[in-house]
Amino acid sequence: MSNGTREKWSGGIGFTLAAVGSAVGLGNMWRFSYMAAENGGAAFVILYVLLTLLVGLPVMLAELTLGRGAGRSPVQALIHYGGRAWAPLGGLFVLAGFVILAYYGVLAGWTVRYAVEAVVWGFPADAGAHFGAISEGHGAAAWHLAFMALTIFVVSGGVKNGIERVSLALMPVLGVLVVGLALYAATLDGAVDGYRYYFTTEFAAILNPDVLRDAAGQAFFSLSLGMGAILTYASYLSRERDLPREAVLIASSDFAVAFIAGLVVFPLVFALGLQEQVGASTLGALFVTLPQAFADMGGTGRVIGALFMVALAVGALTSAISLLEVVVASAIDTFAMPRVRAAWLLGGAIALLGLVAAYDIGMLDLMDKIGGNLLLVLGGFSLSIFAGWVLGPELLDEVHPDGRQRLALRLWLVMLRFVVPAILAVVLVYSAADAWSAVAARWFGEG
Ligand code: PFF
Repeated sequence: MSNGTREKWSGGIGFTLAAVGSAVGLGNMWRFSYMAAENGGAAFVILYVLLTLLVGLPVMLAELTLGRGAGRSPVQALIHYGGRAWAPLGGLFVLAGFVILAYYGVLAGWTVRYAVEAVVWGFPADAGAHFGAISEGHGAAAWHLAFMALTIFVVSGGVKNGIERVSLALMPVLGVLVVGLALYAATLDGAVDGYRYYFTTEFAAILNPDVLRDAAGQAFFSLSLGMGAILTYASYLSRERDLPREAVLIASSDFAVAFIAGLVVFPLVFALGLQEQVGASTLGALFVTLPQAFADMGGTGRVIGALFMVALAVGALTSAISLLEVVVASAIDTFAMPRVRAAWLLGGAIALLGLVAAYDIGMLDLMDKIGGNLLLVLGGFSLSIFAGWVLGPELLDEVHPDGRQRLALRLWLVMLRFVVPAILAVVLVYSAADAWSAVAARWFGEG
């Protein structure tokens, strides 16, 4: 089935760390806290956990199964299993990779810049003004391009020598940093107020469809689902792997980092009395509030802040790599393009698209709504239909040919057929409406 010359992970924990590296990123340490702050704190977290279990895990196992089974990139994997009619879904995945990586590179560029500046100069006293200066324009563009070049460089190194090596080296660092920062944050005066804010629930928020939409979109974004990233990584996997176990490992690591990042962010913000700024949360808030907290903390803040930004940048890099790999692997498989050329050509095109977001933060927000929310939910919905209804029971043998865990796998199929599409159909309506109103406000409302 899979072609013999295709690259493979070297075995061991390389694949797991790379997949966790894809999942853990800006989504965990920036988007999660910002979404939780915006959507009723713990209500959001509870919904997020529920959606991860009911929707995220089943879709993740579907991506793992299809990827390993076909041993090909998303477009070819869908053609392999479903025929030409399903190629457009692969196209949707590649499109999502394009859009998301374009603005993700800009956010990552801010992060790397903060990390470098923190080490060299510390954090400026007026974080708001500084953010205003660096978030848009030539500076944002330059750091974005530099970050993209690094991402392209890693991907052009290949699966084993590029992606796996970087993940093996960096993911443990990230884990240690995040846990260390949370322990430090616990010692701050005011930490308790931060926890209280994080864990206090407005229960009404659970019933709010906007919160459902954001929690579902966030689950997909954070778990790297709905655009074939996990599928692509799984296509380099060998047969022996226990996929359900991998799915649980990846999803729980991802949640752990997001949750612990909240234990860093909220105590810091409350200890420095900056909660007002988070209350009025916008996309950039954490990039202002946290640097402000670090600046106000003086010397310690500089060290803590630099470590935080380094962790964020590391997460961003391993995620960006997976976004690019979806696009690059598709070009390699479909057009027999050499890897290095595909990485520079397509990575370059994505970097150019990202300039739109680098020069206009409103576009960045819009690209996140469309790419990071709508396209992923649409991708996940379509994939669940494909896996659950088009393939159905034939999928079970792809997970465990020896008939192990049959009952659990049957339950999985039921989830893929009924629960996942039903929830995502509702979410899709709200995501589309949200994306549309953002587009309308921009092009028809403003002028
Ligand atoms: N999961 C990444 C994060 O949380 O930052 C973002 C991401 C990576 C989304 C890869 C989608 C994807 F395919």
